[in-house]
Amino acid sequence: MVRDILRGPLAGVVVFLVFVGVAASATFYLRKPVNPGFLDFPTIVALHVVLGGLYLLFAPFQFVRRIRSKHRLYHRWAGRALVALGLATGVTALFMGLVIPASGWPERVVIGLFGSVFLVALHKGFAHIRARRVRQHREWMIRAFSIGLSIATQRLIFIPSILVIANPTNAQIEMLSVVAFAAAFLVHACVAEAWIRLTRKCDAPQTGTTLQTGVAETSGARR
Ligand code: HEM
Repeated sequence: MVRDILRGPLAGVVVFLVFVGVAASATFYLRKPVNPGFLDFPTIVALHVVLGGLYLLFAPFQFVRRIRSKHRLYHRWAGRALVALGLATGVTALFMGLVIPASGWPERVVIGLFGSVFLVALHKGFAHIRARRVRQHREWMIRAFSIGLSIATQRLIFIPSILVIANPTNAQIEMLSVVAFAAAFLVHACVAEAWIRLTRKCDAPQTGTTLQTGVAETSGARR
């Protein structure tokens, strides 16, 4: 099965990207701010960086089948906390991207689009599980997480591209930053959709399944 072959490498890539994303948050105050606008809104930036780092650090455990099935209560309460963390991260991301963008209008467009998708995905993931629709809950939470995780890929595209161009101008740096954001978001969205489709049929009930049946079925399946 293709998905069984891909599961291990995909998990490895996720762990690596989580490490990169959490490191970006953890080292934020050790670096000179890349965007002078950060200094005008220190609380919003701090909320984004710290809560985003916590979201990235703990969200992966929600996708581990063994934790979900053996520690159902943990999954529920951590899930509620993660939705709150994600919403705060997404709202502050929209603020930063729309009000103090380092790369002007292109950044407003890209962050406006993907920041909104991130918030909608979190909302839908939560609403579906409240309505006991396990399959849709899983899929929307994968979408939300994949967008959050793409900030790590953005850095893995942006930093080497800056290094490749010797003495880049400010305009080049701004352009590369927003192109890296867009490329990372698109790659993650495509991989998430591909994974959802690859694992959808056999792994989870299609619609309207009760929570107990859905969890029983999905926890018995491998994600
Ligand atoms: C989910 C975990 C997230 C973490 C850990 C995180 C982390 C960070 C960090 C550390 C910064 C400071 C920039 C730096 O110096 O490296 C930052 C800035 C920013 N983040 Fe996030 N972020 C997350 C999610 C998001 C999401 C989902 C979006 C939008 C879709 C987003 C949009 C932004 C924007 C627009 C900035 C400002 C960039 C600029 O000045 O051009 N972030 N983030």
